[in-house]
Amino acid sequence: MHSQNDSHARLLLTGAGGVLGQRLATGVSDSYHSFLHYHHRPTDDEATNVYVGDLSNPEQVKSLAKQIDPEIIINSAAYADVDRCEIEPEISKRVNVDAVNNLLQFFPQAKFVQISTDYVFDDHDRRGSSPPTPDDPTHPMNIYGKHKLEAEQAAMAASNDNLVIRVNTLFDHTVERNFFRFVYDSLMRKKKIFGLTDQISNPISAFDCARLIVKLVEKGASGIFHIGGKEFINRYEFAKQIARSFDLDEALISSATSDQHSRPARRPSYAGLDCRITEEYLGLPMPSIGDGFSRIRKEMEEKRA
Ligand SMILES: NC(=O)c1ccc[n+]([C@@H]2O[C@H](COP(=O)([O-])OP(=O)(O)OC[C@H]3O[C@@H](n4cnc5c(N)ncnc54)[C@H](OP(=O)(O)O)[C@@H]3O)[C@@H](O)[C@H]2O)c1
Repeated sequence: MHSQNDSHARLLLTGAGGVLGQRLATGVSDSYHSFLHYHHRPTDDEATNVYVGDLSNPEQVKSLAKQIDPEIIINSAAYADVDRCEIEPEISKRVNVDAVNNLLQFFPQAKFVQISTDYVFDDHDRRGSSPPTPDDPTHPMNIYGKHKLEAEQAAMAASNDNLVIRVNTLFDHTVERNFFRFVYDSLMRKKKIFGLTDQISNPISAFDCARLIVKLVEKGASGIFHIGGKEFINRYEFAKQIARSFDLDEALISSATSDQHSRPARRPSYAGLDCRITEEYLGLPMPSIGDGFSRIRKEMEEKRA
């Protein structure tokens, strides 16, 4: 048996094709002997460490457990579309809760790292506007948050050694289903968009988030930790920052409020996470939005070259 920070430890990453998962896949590749699990086979990947299937199906997870024996699992698989979870709660339950229970059941020997969300909390206004720490009481406002909380509780009930990492508002340029890409692509096409002024959080790039998750896992952290960016910002200001930083026309962005654009799921207007415990534990500051933009700009330039 290898220890968790041993470079030869076997690690299963689920949701490897997702916004966060694709960054984690690169992040764990240096430090671990990794197995990558996808819901659908990536078209351009012939790698031998790739596994495909539906984690909400117990038979498929049982079969996976016969093929691999990970010492650590990072579960980044999720049904993460907050509005779709509200419309299709049975799918949310299957992916966000049942899949976690399947992994816990069929890989009882593995340290389980559950990626979770700030949506396990309600509006910070109720607590005098300070963002929640890992010890604050949870109170989800939507189905997605409720199911993610059930998954956290299952992970922590299975073993005190398990780790829950709550993250919030991930941004990246490599995936289409992302606020950064929506703003960037719309403005490139000179399309008018709006940003909500009453949706506040502390965004972090998926790259930086993955980097900090790997550090927590390497250090053998257990319990509940928060990861988010340095700055709290609303979606309107965030969209304007994207425009300014990538030389796009910020005049195309107008401001709006949630009551003007109703959506199926309720969301806290003041969301995000207090990450000071993680900063102290790792001895590292949370990155700024600018740090994330620098990385994205560099990758875009490398792609163009
Ligand atoms: N993105 C954010 O801003 C944000 C904010 C807070 C918390 N989080 C949390 O961060 C984690 C990663 O989220 P993300 O944004 O990377 O989500 P994502 O892009 O939707 O990725 C989730 C992955 O899970 C896979 N998946 C879905 N159903 C599955 C199933 N039945 N079996 C196996 N795999 C399945 C998906 O594959 P297919 O796409 O092929 O179905 C997808 O690749 C989640 O725990 C989420 O709750 C994200």
